[in-house]
Amino acid sequence: MKNKKNKDVISSILRDLYGHLPGFDLWLAKIFEIINVSVNQRPQYLLDLDNIRETTDRDWYLKPDMMAYMCYADRFAGDFKGVEKKIPYLKKLGVTYLHLLSALKPRAGHNDGGFAVADYYATNPKYGSMDDLENLTGTLKKNGISPCIDFVFNHTAMDHVWAQKAIAGDPYYKDFYYFFDDETVPQEYENSLNEVLPETSPGNFTYFEETKSWVWTTFYYYQWDLNYKNPNVFTEMLKAMLSLANKGIQVFRLDATAYLWKKKGTNCLNLPETHKLLQVFRAAISLAAPAVCLKAEAIVGARYISKYLGDREGKKPECQLSYHNALMAALWDSLATGNVLRMSGMLKSLPPKPLGTSWITYLRCHDDIGWGALTDDRKASWAASREDLHKLNDFYEGKTEGSFARGQAFQVSCKDVFHGTNGTLASLAGLEKAMDSGNDADINTAILRIMMLYKIIFSFGGIPLLFMGEEIGLFNDYAYNKLDPVADARWLHRPALPDKNQKEGIKLRNIRRKIFYGIQKMTQLRKKQPLLHADVPTIILDSGNSHTFAFVRKYRAGLFLVLANFSSETQRIPSEFATKNGLSMPLIEQFTDAGYDLSQGLTLTPYHCIWLKA
Ligand code: GLC
Repeated sequence: MKNKKNKDVISSILRDLYGHLPGFDLWLAKIFEIINVSVNQRPQYLLDLDNIRETTDRDWYLKPDMMAYMCYADRFAGDFKGVEKKIPYLKKLGVTYLHLLSALKPRAGHNDGGFAVADYYATNPKYGSMDDLENLTGTLKKNGISPCIDFVFNHTAMDHVWAQKAIAGDPYYKDFYYFFDDETVPQEYENSLNEVLPETSPGNFTYFEETKSWVWTTFYYYQWDLNYKNPNVFTEMLKAMLSLANKGIQVFRLDATAYLWKKKGTNCLNLPETHKLLQVFRAAISLAAPAVCLKAEAIVGARYISKYLGDREGKKPECQLSYHNALMAALWDSLATGNVLRMSGMLKSLPPKPLGTSWITYLRCHDDIGWGALTDDRKASWAASREDLHKLNDFYEGKTEGSFARGQAFQVSCKDVFHGTNGTLASLAGLEKAMDSGNDADINTAILRIMMLYKIIFSFGGIPLLFMGEEIGLFNDYAYNKLDPVADARWLHRPALPDKNQKEGIKLRNIRRKIFYGIQKMTQLRKKQPLLHADVPTIILDSGNSHTFAFVRKYRAGLFLVLANFSSETQRIPSEFATKNGLSMPLIEQFTDAGYDLSQGLTLTPYHCIWLKA
C-alpha cells in the first residue's frame, strides 16, 4: 500500500515536471528500475533496519534520545578510522546522530569546505576510502549512532566528470548545467536574483574563457549549478543518493535545498518545482531505503522553512528534518539585545510543523549566522530592519559598547543582501573575551549564556545539534588564513579539536569540563522526557516580561515549560503569567528537582533557564 503510494507520487510528479519531453515513459521506467536495483543491492543489515523503522521504530528521528553532532573527520579525529575510535567520546556526550562534513570527494584546492563535489561515488581522500566510510557507518550503527552526510545536489564541482565533458563540448553533459553564449540571459536572471557571496564571489554567473560562455554559479565559480529541467540530472543524482544509502548513510543533508529550480523573474528560491523535486526524492528514498531520512538545508526566511517539511496535513511529505535557521538567528538576536519579543513574535507567526517531522535545533554550524532569516518580505511586525541587522553585526563583532562577543562580519558589504556573522559559540557568547580578562564572574556569566542557549535548543522541539568543539568551548581560530590568505572566512569558526595531550591551564580545563558535563547532563535528562518528542507541539507564550522567553510543550495531561532570562539583569515574571496560561499547578524543575509555584510570580537571575514539569 505504502509502496503503491510512493510509486504514484514518483510517477505523477515526474510526469508533471518532465512528461512533455520525448521518451518520458521509457525514462520513467528506468527510474523505477534504478530503485529496484538499489533495493536488490541493499545489504541485509540495512534491510533489517528498514524493516524495524517501517514497523516498530517509525518515529526514531523524533524521539527525545536524539542528539546530533557535526564534524570534519580530520579536525575531529584525523580521518574516518580516527572517528571510529572516538565513538566512545561521542557516546559519553549522548550523541545518536553524526553528521560527517565533506565526506565525499571534493575538487582539489579551494572547494568551499567540501561543498564542491568532484565525485559522488568516492570519498574525501583526506579521510579515507569508501570502504573506510562504510566500515565507519556500520560501526556507528552498531553503537546506536545514525550517520549523516551532505548531499550536495544543487551543484557539482567544475572538476566533476560531467562538467569536464561539458567543457569538452559534449552536448549531452552541457545540458547538465546552465550555459549561456553571452551575458544577455544571465543579466535578465540577475535582475531578480540575490547574491550569496557578494564579497568573495559576486553575481550568480561566471564567464569561462575555455568555453567562451557564461555558466550558472550561485556560489563559487567552481560550483556549477545543475539543470534539473534536464531529467537526466535527476536520474544521476537519484542514483548517487541510493548508492550512498546502501553504504549505510541514514540521513542526507540536502545542501542548498532552496535553489534547485530556476525561473526567470523570480529569486529562484523556494520555487514550487523545487518542492516537487523534494517530494519525489522523498518518495524514492522511502521506497528504496525506508530507514533513511532527508534533511533540508534551506537557509531562507522564517516563513519558508517549514514548507521543506511538507504540507501541514502530511499529504505531500518532503524532508523529515529541517534546520531551524530562523530560531538559531533569533536566539542570537535575543542574546545581543536582551529582548525576546522579535523571537517570540516570529515563532508565533510560523505555521506548526507537520506531524512526523522534526527541526534540527542548533546554535552554530560550519556556516555563518545568516541574519536574513530575521527579515520578512511581507514586513511582519517582528521583522528586523537593515539597521537592526547592522546593529547585530556590530554587536557580534564586539564593536558595540558592552558587547561580550568576538565575531567577524561575513559578506555584508553588498547593499541588498545581508549575510551574517562568523565565530564559534564560545567566542560569540563571551567566553573568549571573559577568559582574556581573567575575570571569574565574567567567565561564569559566559558559561551561563551558553548553557541557557543549549537548554533552549535541547527542549524546543527537534534534534539538538552540536558543532564540533562546542562541547569544550573552543574559541575562534584566528590562524585560519595563515597558509591561505584568501581562505573562506568561515574557517574562523571551524577550529580543530585540541590533541588530548595538549597542555592547558587548570582554569581552561575546568571550563571545558563544566560545558562538556553540562551538555551530557542535558542529554541524559532530555532522553527521559516523553514530552520532548518532536511530535509534541511547542507553544510560544507571552511571559509578561520582554526579557524572558517562554514556551510550553503539552500532551494530554503532561506539560513541559521552559523559561529563560535573556538579559544581564534579574527579571520578574508576573503572577498573571501563571493564571493567564493555566500554569498554577505545582511544577518541578528538572535539573534541580526544586518545586515551583508560578502563581506567586517568579524571579529569574541573569541568563538562567529552567525546565519545569507538571
Ligand atoms: C550550504 C553549505 C555551505 C556552502 C553552500 C554551497 O549552504 O552549508 O557551507 O557554502 O551550501 O554548497
